[in-house]
Amino acid sequence: MIASKFLDGFNWSRKDLTNIKDLSLAEINEVMSLAEVFKKTIVSESGTLPYQQGKNIVTFFLEPSTRTRNAFEMSARRLGANVLAVNSSASSITKGETLKDTAKNLEAITSDMIIIRHSAAGAAEYLAERLAIPVVNAGDGAHAHPTQALLDSFTLRERFGQNLSGLHVTILGDILFSRVARSNIYCLQRQGVEVTLAGPSTLIPRDFEKMGVKIKYDLRDAVSDADAVMLLRIQHERQGETHFPSIGEYANVFGLNQTREGWLKKDAIIMHPGPVNRGVELDTYLADSPRSVILKQVTNGVAVRMAVLHLCLQAAEKSRR
Ligand code: CP
Repeated sequence: MIASKFLDGFNWSRKDLTNIKDLSLAEINEVMSLAEVFKKTIVSESGTLPYQQGKNIVTFFLEPSTRTRNAFEMSARRLGANVLAVNSSASSITKGETLKDTAKNLEAITSDMIIIRHSAAGAAEYLAERLAIPVVNAGDGAHAHPTQALLDSFTLRERFGQNLSGLHVTILGDILFSRVARSNIYCLQRQGVEVTLAGPSTLIPRDFEKMGVKIKYDLRDAVSDADAVMLLRIQHERQGETHFPSIGEYANVFGLNQTREGWLKKDAIIMHPGPVNRGVELDTYLADSPRSVILKQVTNGVAVRMAVLHLCLQAAEKSRR
């Protein structure tokens, strides 16, 4: 068990986590140190840590998810909380009820927290302003995916040490439609990481340079001095039009594969938030190679989300006292 003095000793005061942009380095560090403790316990113990025993947590996903939804649910259960999974297709949203009304009703059934994934940017913030209980963003449109960025940083810290300053991360693929890219840019830069964006020019408008990143349209140039290459899939579901001639041509020009492994630094790691489209952005050889930390990211997602759930629930509790 973890000493309650340690669990209570955080300065985190946010009831909601809707965006990474607002987090200070101190707040990111708090999530990382609590997640580090939770990670040690979840890999060594199969039981629960009853720090949120009896709390009722709703996962309200209006878009498909494998990793995020299940990692949140696993995290909640490992903290001793009850989980209520609400499916949009089986909810009264299909009968015309508004998002706000649905969420207010989920709050009224005595829920303690709502974790939401929605296709609309800003959906989580919109609910956080209208609900008394904590709201956690599990991905909203192309806007933000804060817990993904936090678990990615946790994974980088596991490999490169707690101080990421001076590290170089290249994010490669569909940047334009990616909430993962946006959240990672903010989270990594807050920790002093140099970020390069790479992919087809149609998917990385020059506007992104305003965020203080480098942009490269040549794959070899983009990956050759990266300590980590974070791959993104092409998000067809968000693209209203085609941004490159074909998937085959994308793979030919921007796919990372065994032949191109020689372009990487000796110790460079490969990351991917999933789902991986094998043979498109990444081949099977590299996806399953020792360089790949893809499944570590997924495991770390449980520890990081335990930390986020615990901190937000604790902040909400403190503000009620
Ligand atoms: N990384 C991520 O958001 O994956 P899912 O869509 O499976 O949740």
